[in-house]
Amino acid sequence: MRVLSLINQKGGCGKTTVAVNLAAALGRREQRVLLVDLDPQGHATLALSCDGESCASLRDVLTARTSIRSAIRRTPFGIDLLPAAESLAEFEEASARMLKPETVLHDALQDVADEYDWALLDCPARADGVLSANALRASSIAILVVETGAFALQGALRARRIFERTARAQGSRFDIRVLGTLFDRRTKCGRELLLAMHSRFGPDMFDTVVRESVKLREAAARGMPVQFLAPRSGSSDDFAALAVELAATRLRDGHDLVARTVSREGTPAPL
Ligand SMILES: Nc1ncnc2c1ncn2[C@@H]1O[C@H](COP(=O)(O)OP(=O)(O)OP(=O)(O)O)[C@@H](O)[C@H]1O
Ligand SMILES: [Mg+2]
Repeated sequence: MRVLSLINQKGGCGKTTVAVNLAAALGRREQRVLLVDLDPQGHATLALSCDGESCASLRDVLTARTSIRSAIRRTPFGIDLLPAAESLAEFEEASARMLKPETVLHDALQDVADEYDWALLDCPARADGVLSANALRASSIAILVVETGAFALQGALRARRIFERTARAQGSRFDIRVLGTLFDRRTKCGRELLLAMHSRFGPDMFDTVVRESVKLREAAARGMPVQFLAPRSGSSDDFAALAVELAATRLRDGHDLVARTVSREGTPAPL
């Protein structure tokens, strides 16, 4: 299981949108995907038409009230969800009494590591809290989701410094990759910013950029991934391209993110 977190310290930059639709894009390629909602707002939970309040949720897993397996829910969209409820915010306080509270999610995910190809972690905007620390501790890649608008580059550089500091403090070894989103190619500012991001982040930046699209807003409002609302849309294409690019990603330590599995016929299994 490869664990990825979608992260930025900025609110509203598209983390949840990327988490939900990238998860669905991987699911449509026969990948086994677990989406973990780490935000007490529960937006990823709502975006999959689930309700985190009425049954076991991530808070219960992090506080050892229930096992991860019994809190995971199957969705009609080809992916599984570990939902969030508002009470997840209480974990911040509870964690003050725990030894190494930032390792709880990592340890819980080990129990289902054989059951999924991917775990995608949708992080809250607060980058220095214990929930984001849990996400980073569990991840092999942190995807810094950057809205291609004004001041985005400065914000992204600041966020990367924070995550690098967290990695050092935790002794964790995750790679940081940058993904541009909410891109509008009609604006000069958007095009220039994307170029600036590529020159600043170089190979750490995904070639795929998620374009701004009303379909993504509509899909979230209807509680489904965009692939189910508009399978032939540009947004579905963007997330399909991102899934393929992700699978070809090579980690800084020289390992491929996806170990090339070989099918029974002897050819590498496609993503
Ligand atoms: N590429 C896009 N095109 C159009 N709208 C988008 C796009 N990405 C995100 N949005 C919209 O922008 C808003 C914020 O997106 P989202 O909830 O994904 O951000 P977030 O970073 O998860 O926010 P938060 O920090 O509150 O968790 C939502 O209304 C979403 O539908
Ligand atoms: Mg969000």
